[in-house]
Amino acid sequence: MAAELLLAISLSLLFFPFSSSSFSSIFISCGSSSSVNVANDNPPRTFTPDGKFLISSSNSKTNSFSSSSVAPLYSTARLFTSVSSYSFDVDVNAFYILRLHFFPFNSTFKARFDVSALNRYLLLSSFSPSTPSKPDVKEFLLWVEKSPLLVTFSPSPNNLAFINALELISSPPNLINGSKPTYITASGSSQEDNFAPQAMETVYRVNVGGPLITPANDTLWRTWESDDNQFLFNKNLSVEKRTTGQIEYPTEEGLTDVIAPEMVYSTARKMNFEPVSGMANPIFNITWSFNVPPGFQYFVRMHFCDFWITSQTNFYFEVYLGEFIAHKDLNPGNMTSWRTMIPFYFDFVVDAPSSGPLNVSIGPAANSVPPDAFLNGLEIIKLSNSHLSLAGEFGIYDSGAGSHGGHHFLSILLPSFLGGVVLLIFLLFVLQLCLRRRRSKQNLVEEQKDTTNASWFHYNAGAGAASLVFRTSSKSTTDQTPKSSASPRLNLGLQISYSEVIFATNNFDEKLVIGAGGFGKVYKGVLSDGTKVAVKRGVPGSRQGYPEFQTEIVVLSRIRHRYLVSLIGYCEEHSEMILVYEYMEKGTLNSYLYGSNLPCLSWKQRLEICICAAKGLHYLHTGYSQSIIHRDVKSTNILLGENFEAKVSDFGLSRLGPSYGETHVSTGLKGTFGYFDPEYFKILKLTEKSDVYSFGVVLFEVLCARPAIFDHVNLAEFALHWVKKDQLEKIVDQRLAGKINENSLRKFSETATKCLADYGTDRPSIGDVLWNLEYALQLQVSGLLREPFEDSGIVDESEAAFVASVGRMPSATNEGDEEAEAEAEAAWTYESETTTSMVFSQLVKGEGR
Ligand SMILES: *[C@@H]1O[C@H](CO)[C@@H](O)[C@H](O)[C@H]1NC(C)=O
Ligand SMILES: *[C@@H]1O[C@H](CO)[C@@H](O)[C@H](O)[C@H]1NC(C)=O
Ligand SMILES: *[C@@H]1O[C@H](CO)[C@@H](O)[C@H](O)[C@H]1NC(C)=O
Ligand SMILES: *[C@@H]1O[C@H](CO)[C@@H](O)[C@H](O)[C@H]1NC(C)=O
Ligand SMILES: *[C@@H]1O[C@H](CO)[C@@H](O)[C@H](O)[C@H]1NC(C)=O
Ligand SMILES: *[C@@H]1O[C@H](CO)[C@@H](O)[C@H](O)[C@H]1NC(C)=O
Ligand SMILES: *[C@@H]1O[C@H](CO)[C@@H](O)[C@H](O)[C@H]1NC(C)=O
Repeated sequence: MAAELLLAISLSLLFFPFSSSSFSSIFISCGSSSSVNVANDNPPRTFTPDGKFLISSSNSKTNSFSSSSVAPLYSTARLFTSVSSYSFDVDVNAFYILRLHFFPFNSTFKARFDVSALNRYLLLSSFSPSTPSKPDVKEFLLWVEKSPLLVTFSPSPNNLAFINALELISSPPNLINGSKPTYITASGSSQEDNFAPQAMETVYRVNVGGPLITPANDTLWRTWESDDNQFLFNKNLSVEKRTTGQIEYPTEEGLTDVIAPEMVYSTARKMNFEPVSGMANPIFNITWSFNVPPGFQYFVRMHFCDFWITSQTNFYFEVYLGEFIAHKDLNPGNMTSWRTMIPFYFDFVVDAPSSGPLNVSIGPAANSVPPDAFLNGLEIIKLSNSHLSLAGEFGIYDSGAGSHGGHHFLSILLPSFLGGVVLLIFLLFVLQLCLRRRRSKQNLVEEQKDTTNASWFHYNAGAGAASLVFRTSSKSTTDQTPKSSASPRLNLGLQISYSEVIFATNNFDEKLVIGAGGFGKVYKGVLSDGTKVAVKRGVPGSRQGYPEFQTEIVVLSRIRHRYLVSLIGYCEEHSEMILVYEYMEKGTLNSYLYGSNLPCLSWKQRLEICICAAKGLHYLHTGYSQSIIHRDVKSTNILLGENFEAKVSDFGLSRLGPSYGETHVSTGLKGTFGYFDPEYFKILKLTEKSDVYSFGVVLFEVLCARPAIFDHVNLAEFALHWVKKDQLEKIVDQRLAGKINENSLRKFSETATKCLADYGTDRPSIGDVLWNLEYALQLQVSGLLREPFEDSGIVDESEAAFVASVGRMPSATNEGDEEAEAEAEAAWTYESETTTSMVFSQLVKGEGR
């Protein structure tokens, strides 16, 4: 408490308002012990030492570097070896500009890290500053609802995080708040009443037709690039225009130099008619092209100021964003009461094109006099996605893609990936149709006869839980085999020869079997290059599971993430279905929880494992423009590496999530009993929240060390029962009794409980789950005695440092021990929607058992 008070006092001392403006700002020089003055700036700034804002000192250290070639601001850095935060006391319900400066002056830095804000917004992911020649400055605009504002750095395993300087500026009220952008879509444009509070990242800020504007010449210390030699599609089609006159800001309308400085409005680019003189109809566009990562929406602000066309009455031009017309017949005179020197701007929101750059074009309207068009400034700002992420498409990509812009890589790959998945889903559907008739009758009878072994308590909101019980036997049907000619284009680069597989597994030596499941056997193996692998071999000759085999290849060959088990290769020769994965030394998570003599995992280890798995799922859900739903989240699909780092595996059932505008996808029921989202089970409504539900079950498995179904009891039901009674101690793994921090336990069980909400909309997103787990870990590690926050909601603030780091990352992985799959977790799948409802009505009838 005392420390907190001290912090608050020191923070308030450091907030100093600028005389020239009414907002307050913080500038810190990270890792520095003395203040750094940036006298050139106008207004001038002092960057103060960062110590007071740091809430994890034990894990950070300072590195400094002196050289005349490095600006004083970049000659020191704060390094973080584990999760650490800066904390700023701020006014709430306001936008803040956050600028992070990275200058990796020491080439021995092995920096790769995530940055998040407010435990809420993911700003950077697996970020690795790679421009030693100049500082890399990232600028964000954050909507802040709670104080303190935490900026958290999470180094990737075996890596460092660092930062040289940080700016936090309270956004002037008229800058972004209250903006009513026009939304440009294929179906037209619409104006939203209010711009949703969120996180944004400035991707481009351009002084069109003018020079570079440095922070020294901007009221908010912004940088405006010149469009002189970049962005402009065909330079010959335009000319620059400048004025030395005084820009007349319509301040009564809230347009001041805070929106853009004079230097932006006093230069412009307009149409150049010279190269086309002699052309009968000099109608063309001036086009700027911007590479923007796909999968996000972009806020585009276009600045205009006419200072040379005096007869404006019939002067109109068109503004295009991508292929759409953003503003038709823009008449500058109308905007400025027929006067020159008056700036104005328009805000738009547009989706990133699915491929290629975002084009911004201007061109004259058909009957304009004169036929001309101009632009003075342009800002392109990325908006956070529905998961509050600005770095959705993060992760470690395949070789080559690496640091030089994941988005190029993605924009090439995404369409083919989506195409592949769509084709697969279609294949699956056809297959299911064929099978439906044959299977449904005979299977149902079979399933119903044997109702004693495993049970599944069906959720029934409101009413008492009816226990619907049925046997979860292994499948006996032989699936029809799709012809391989019908298979979608798989990634040929991942093909591994049969002889290599034979070599790796010593001709499928039974001694090397490390697991077996419905699909077939899993062997441990070593490739000829020495890589340890897990080899999953479908039952030879049988083509059962072929769709899952293909989905797995399509999904895993396209996405790579450090918390997802990676596919090294596959082999389809000799009618085999063989998948080769990285080897995960320690096998499945469930084997460390129950049913074995393996050592007991500590609470901290368990939390770290859950965090890794949540990160993997978070990536699946948010890493692409369209999310991927795993559909089979369970403890047997979470594999552990040498140092207990966890990865999510088995993507055979995964599929694309709802696309933009849809709330869910309707699909046949697939997954594992004990883990089914009740909404998905009942009405086949599949969303990302279905994975969240299953993950909630995993969290209780971890807490209670019990399988998802045990003694005919459904763990989810069982756990909620005791949670409701507030007698958690009755179900917590007895081996951990007394070793769990009370608050950590509470945070954890609250989070798990929320995941198990009956309705998807009531469940947190996996991102929220992740943050709450990290918070639970923090509570455990720091042993905070303080009560967790009253609101028991989503954690988005904290006092203490995140001191825990996720376990070291592996070089090896493995496909796990499917033997340990409890009998209860049958992979019994329904084949189509029709069949499912039939099955379901059967089950409901069985209620009276
Ligand atoms: C760079 O970092 C390494 C290790 O972090 C350190 O030993 C070395 O002195 C640093 N070099 C400079 C120039 O700061
Ligand atoms: C932001 O804008 C909204 C609506 O225009 C207004 O009600 C609110 O007071 C503004 N907030 C700030 C901090 O300016
Ligand atoms: C930018 O600001 C500096 C200092 O205030 C000034 O000397 C310089 O002329 C300005 N640059 C331009 C292009 O106006
Ligand atoms: C631009 O103009 C120059 C000289 O007028 C010419 O050499 C060049 O080919 C033109 N470029 C394009 C892209 O038209
Ligand atoms: C200008 O660009 C838009 C959008 O790409 C396009 O529809 C239009 O035809 C172009 N106009 C001319 C004259 O090229
Ligand atoms: C001026 O713009 C307003 C909308 O901003 C429009 O309603 C009006 O018709 C325009 N007037 C002229 C003369 O273009
Ligand atoms: C962008 O504009 C240029 C020039 O008009 C055109 O060649 C290119 O195809 C456009 N790109 C996209 C993605 O629309």
